[in-house]
Amino acid sequence: MEKVIKEIEDLRKKIRFHDHRYYVLDDPVIADAEYDRFFQRLLALEGLYTELVTPDSPTQRVGARPKETFLEVEHRFPMLSLANGFKDQDIRDFGARVVRFLGHSPAFEYTVEPKYDGLAVELVFEKGVFVKASTRGDGYVGEDVTGNVRTISAVPLALIATKQGVPLPDLLEVRGEVYIEKEAFETLNRNRVEMNLPAFANPRNAAAGSLRQLDPAVTSKRPLNIFCYGIGEAIGPEFDTYHELMICLKEWGLRVNSKYINVCRTIDEVIEYCHRLEEKRFRFPYEIDGAVIKINQLKLQARLGQKSRSPRWALAYKFSPTQETSRIVKIDVQVGRTGALTPVAYLEPVEIGGVVVKRATLHNQEEIQKKDIRELDTVIVQRAGDVIPAVVKSIKSKRTGQEKRFAMPAHCPVCGSKVVRKEGEVVLRCPNPDCPAQVKGSLKHFVSRGAMNIDGLGDKIVSQMIEKGMIHEEADIYALTLEDLVKLDKIEEKSAKNLMMSIQTSKKTTLGKFIYALGIRHVGEHIAELISRHFGILDRIQKAKLEELKYKKSEGTGVKGIGKEIAKSIVSYFEDEANKENIRRLIDAGVCFEEISGPSPSPVFGKIFVITGSLSSMKRSECKEMIIRRGGRLASSVSHSTDYVVVGESPGEKLEKARSLGIPLLEEKDFFTLLERSSNS
Ligand code: IVH
Repeated sequence: MEKVIKEIEDLRKKIRFHDHRYYVLDDPVIADAEYDRFFQRLLALEGLYTELVTPDSPTQRVGARPKETFLEVEHRFPMLSLANGFKDQDIRDFGARVVRFLGHSPAFEYTVEPKYDGLAVELVFEKGVFVKASTRGDGYVGEDVTGNVRTISAVPLALIATKQGVPLPDLLEVRGEVYIEKEAFETLNRNRVEMNLPAFANPRNAAAGSLRQLDPAVTSKRPLNIFCYGIGEAIGPEFDTYHELMICLKEWGLRVNSKYINVCRTIDEVIEYCHRLEEKRFRFPYEIDGAVIKINQLKLQARLGQKSRSPRWALAYKFSPTQETSRIVKIDVQVGRTGALTPVAYLEPVEIGGVVVKRATLHNQEEIQKKDIRELDTVIVQRAGDVIPAVVKSIKSKRTGQEKRFAMPAHCPVCGSKVVRKEGEVVLRCPNPDCPAQVKGSLKHFVSRGAMNIDGLGDKIVSQMIEKGMIHEEADIYALTLEDLVKLDKIEEKSAKNLMMSIQTSKKTTLGKFIYALGIRHVGEHIAELISRHFGILDRIQKAKLEELKYKKSEGTGVKGIGKEIAKSIVSYFEDEANKENIRRLIDAGVCFEEISGPSPSPVFGKIFVITGSLSSMKRSECKEMIIRRGGRLASSVSHSTDYVVVGESPGEKLEKARSLGIPLLEEKDFFTLLERSSNS
């Protein structure tokens, strides 16, 4: 028993500490997953030893107290938290608990929707007019953020009376999550870094930081958005189901993600939809960290009531975490195809979202210094979608004194050349173009999917070919014979033949892909496509002068989208004799591409699009893909450089901005007409 008491006390101490770091300081020092484990363990122990539950246990509260600089707002109905589930079985247990509690089970449904990773707020509307907004705080008392929330364009300052004549409520407390879209977050951070301001660690922190600004003028510049998902007190029309309520909120002008509120009749359907959301997780334009399951019938919600900190009628199914805690065993340096030296942390293996992570990037020396990351440090590692796992921060409190600071080497770890650092750049580079690491990197890039797309020529085979001295530069690939290929280890004749075939077919490509394959610095797929379309033929690109490349709006010269840095990089690449020779050899080997004469008349190509509102005939992601596939680009906010704004249902503030700047607006049907013209051209 003594041991149990001690463990409970330790857990409470830890949780209180981390609550404070997370809620008050916005500076967590452990991964959410680890916090969840502490919390679940404490819940489990308190469940077993109910006599040890005290009113001040973190399980009895919702969060930490708000900062003192804001006025306090007492919530009429406490803003509760949600019970968490992690496995399918937890969802089944939730369903079984609901049935048990309701007794002779009345018919009911569930709703399932995304769990947004932002900051909970409550908006109060009196007689349809927005009068107050507050944060959740400790669930009972929050912070008054009315002035800041007023600046969020997605929050209506007055509700709209519906067509069907559902009267507006006298009082309505709406609950929702304030968040920042991923793309807008990236832009925000890029601008901050340019202005020498610290970058936000993630969209949630950025949203929290923005909402807690003392000056609403600052908040107004932040791309905050909101999804409403519940109500507190309401005096006015009544509804049978949560789903109907949400639809009505939407009609009253509140932002509701109705497309993703799915009504399910059985627990199996619930589980299936939770999995569907998890699969799509990284494709949402905003961060979601789980699914929220609710009982649809509002009367039954009321009957189910709540436990101390969460309602019995809802469950948060948490997705596999994207962050975990691990330890850096060693820091090493990798040399990429452009010669860039990247510090890489070798970690004690840790599973994140079903994948075992052993290595994570540390980006560059500046990042290591800023975050003070050392060898043997305990760190938080993050993996999100397809991106390379990264070390987010080190946990200083776990230091033992054994940790070692890391400094980037003065010489290339592969070829020994003295490394250089260009003025204004943070990256260190190996200046030797013959450095084996650069050669290997360039060849791997050359054969990759977006470049020459040589199927079957993966990293391992390329490495082997280099080690066996079979290839040194790109053109050598096209001189390989079947006899050469069968000499490779672990390759059967059939695969060798297939590989030979892929090499041959890759020769026929497009000018854009060829330019991209050359691996010119700063020339990614998009830029390669831009210059190919602009100049049409290789010869003209090779001979292009700086001023023909660099875009100058006032003169109408250059290629839109190409700045000075890129232009300089292209010119110097084609001036280099070795590069010229390499290209000659490739052409001699039979590499050919359709050359395009003159600039493209495509109305989408090179144009910048902004999408606002929800689209009815396609998903936003599909719309984006159609634009990108035709060489267009997307931006998250409207500015002078925007070419078109695609306007869907209930468009946001972007529409007004576009109108004020006189930017052409496209309804969905106009957008399709434009696409048709684009594919015919
Ligand atoms: S419903 C009684 N729905 O998750 C609680 N909450 O962990 C009603 N959250 O405080 C909340 N997305 O900040 C609900 N679709 C969603 C949500 C959601 C995110 C947040 C909310 C809540 C926290 C609980």
